[in-house]
Amino acid sequence: DEERMGEGEEKMEEVLKTLPMEKLPEGIHLSFYEGHWYRSTFMHGIIPFQQHFKAQDTDLILVTFPKSGTTWLKALAFTIANRNNYPVSESPLLTTNPHSLVYFLDFEIYGKSPILKLEDLPSPRVLATHMPHSALPTSIKDSNCRVVYLCRNPLDMFISYRHFVAKFSNKPFDPSLIEESFDMFCRGVSSYGPFWDHVLEYWKASQERQNKVLFLKYEDMKEDPISHLKVLAKFMGLPFSVEEESQGVIEEVLKLCSFDNLKDLEVNTNETNRNGHPYSMFFRKAEVGDWANYLTPSMLERMNKLMEEKFAGSGLNF
Ligand code: A3P
Repeated sequence: DEERMGEGEEKMEEVLKTLPMEKLPEGIHLSFYEGHWYRSTFMHGIIPFQQHFKAQDTDLILVTFPKSGTTWLKALAFTIANRNNYPVSESPLLTTNPHSLVYFLDFEIYGKSPILKLEDLPSPRVLATHMPHSALPTSIKDSNCRVVYLCRNPLDMFISYRHFVAKFSNKPFDPSLIEESFDMFCRGVSSYGPFWDHVLEYWKASQERQNKVLFLKYEDMKEDPISHLKVLAKFMGLPFSVEEESQGVIEEVLKLCSFDNLKDLEVNTNETNRNGHPYSMFFRKAEVGDWANYLTPSMLERMNKLMEEKFAGSGLNF
């Protein structure tokens, strides 16, 4: 088996060499594969995930474009799914980062050194990915599993990513790189980009399969978290009961998963993940509109034009 895996790796290296590549100004390599840009190092997980993942009808798959609120969504969905296993006061979230409770399929469960075996997960499985809809393994689309998509205003997400990359590269945030990375983002060259295709594909899927694909926006969730938590729980097939509502369970879940609560926990201030990256890199400001501190009026204009053009007629806007 090991020999066969070795052969597979060699083939993979051959395939990777043939893909067009770009380098973000922060030093991250991206490879262009079947219409989308991926972190080159993630290709080792992306292809096996596409080829081998078998979705179960009970699976819940959380999907985001990076820096759109994945950490929050993971915390909320995990808590909803497990609320009968642990009282909120004993939630694993109090001692474990959300990313170590809900793993990414495309680079943690598949990939060079898989973090765990899918068979070891209890049902219903809560899983995550950043993959575009058109690139998902067919079994996700063919099965009855549920998909939750969370998106965010691209300007805030873009700035959030810049800070994130600096943190995990152990470098200070460098605003002089913004101009070039913004240009690349607008040309579609960003991790899991083009952004527009990503959002539009899930938007359409959510309209075509309303019971199977839920489309959420970070800004809407921040504005009205209670109704969105109810929508999420109902979509997951685990609606809050009248009794739970009157006992304040919804508020309790929201408080547990809130940015202010999670970011100050010992695990999220002082601990690192298995790659030695601090969990604190997932918590920064969690504000709407922080982009205004970084982007110029002409950048805003370029993005607005692009959004108008790309989302024209879709009913989607930011
Ligand atoms: P900012 O960099 O704008 O602060 P992701 O979780 O997809 O990696 O996205 C990270 C962004 O979500 C960061 O945004 C981070 O601060 C914010 N975030 C992290 N935890 C959150 C939470 N519990 N609620 C709301 N936002 C959160």
